[in-house]
Amino acid sequence: MFKKVYLTILIMVLFIGLISFTTGCQTKEKAVEEIKIGGVGPISGEASTYGISTRNGENLAVEEWNAKGGVLGKKIKLIFEDDKGDATEAATVWTELIDQDKVVAIVGSVMSKCSLAGAPIAQAKGVPFVSSGSTNPRVTEYGDYIFRVCFIDSFQGKVGANFAYYDLGARKVGLIFDVGNDYTKGLSEFFRDQFINLGGEVVGFESHPTGATDFKAQLTNLIKAGAELIYIPDYYSDAALIMKQARELGFKGYFLGSDGWDSPDLVKIGGDAVEGGFFTNHFSKDDQRPEVQEFVKKYKEKFGQDPEALASLAYDAMNITLTAIQNAGSTDGAKIKEALKNIEFNGVTGFITFDENRNPVKSVVILEIKNGQQVYKTAVNP
Ligand code: PHE
Repeated sequence: MFKKVYLTILIMVLFIGLISFTTGCQTKEKAVEEIKIGGVGPISGEASTYGISTRNGENLAVEEWNAKGGVLGKKIKLIFEDDKGDATEAATVWTELIDQDKVVAIVGSVMSKCSLAGAPIAQAKGVPFVSSGSTNPRVTEYGDYIFRVCFIDSFQGKVGANFAYYDLGARKVGLIFDVGNDYTKGLSEFFRDQFINLGGEVVGFESHPTGATDFKAQLTNLIKAGAELIYIPDYYSDAALIMKQARELGFKGYFLGSDGWDSPDLVKIGGDAVEGGFFTNHFSKDDQRPEVQEFVKKYKEKFGQDPEALASLAYDAMNITLTAIQNAGSTDGAKIKEALKNIEFNGVTGFITFDENRNPVKSVVILEIKNGQQVYKTAVNP
């Protein structure tokens, strides 16, 4: 009698155990059915075209991988967040992506000031971050989980200064930059130092606060000091206004800028004033390499416009990250970052391998604005 009761209890226990074991497996299985990747960029704010292009580039890459079966046999899910071009907002969305959404990597992030806020969070939590467009040198200095697919500003500033001095023949230059923005401030310093190294004269080094819309006082100083060229390493909305106001004040010299100019809105805001301006960039849609032309065609078909640098960098950053996950054979952050270190990738923005500081060695393209279009001028290798 007792034996029977024991036996029934034993069978029940075993049965319950078996059920909870199998359902346990099922939930585990479900949790890894898709691989979540976080995307970040300014979808709203002063530079919203950057975020929209970044999201487009990432979506295109993810869609292509998913069409081929995903990565490690699982579908990829992109969770894209708007950092609003604001460092505090960036820190919030990075934390959410990692802690709540449980993304295995973060890809994108354009503005250096936002990446500088997000990178230490990714590093501390052991989640690899591959920046598409943040060029300030300090971004990857946060540690071995932080990579980028773009060149850095020490190089961009140097190329700009050389171009001003040798190609445009400028000997006296003036600068104007946003003092609250790590990218524009850093780049101004790199340009200034190189221009002085070359023997040129920096006749003015003017700054303005973030969000300013009237630059006339600073521009008047630069014009009075005899600047033949004004260097404007800034985002497109500021840069366009600065050029407009300089022309209104009668400035006749050259304008030279940086990757931040890359937006269809530069010409929309700046109109005739931006015509003839030069800027350094990561990519030209006129690059005749077949992989570039194929990408331009696919992008145009899907989004109805030409890709600019940000879409291209984001596409490369996502492809590199997914390739690293595949090479690692795992979604473990430590393994992904090891695979990233060894990546060799022929991207649309150039051939990408990382140096010991997790930066790629890439050329800078110089573009000219002609009839409202970006026209390829030259490329400079490191
Ligand atoms: N390099 C800029 C930054 O670091 C961002 C940017 C990249 C803007 C490429 C336009 C094109 O803030």
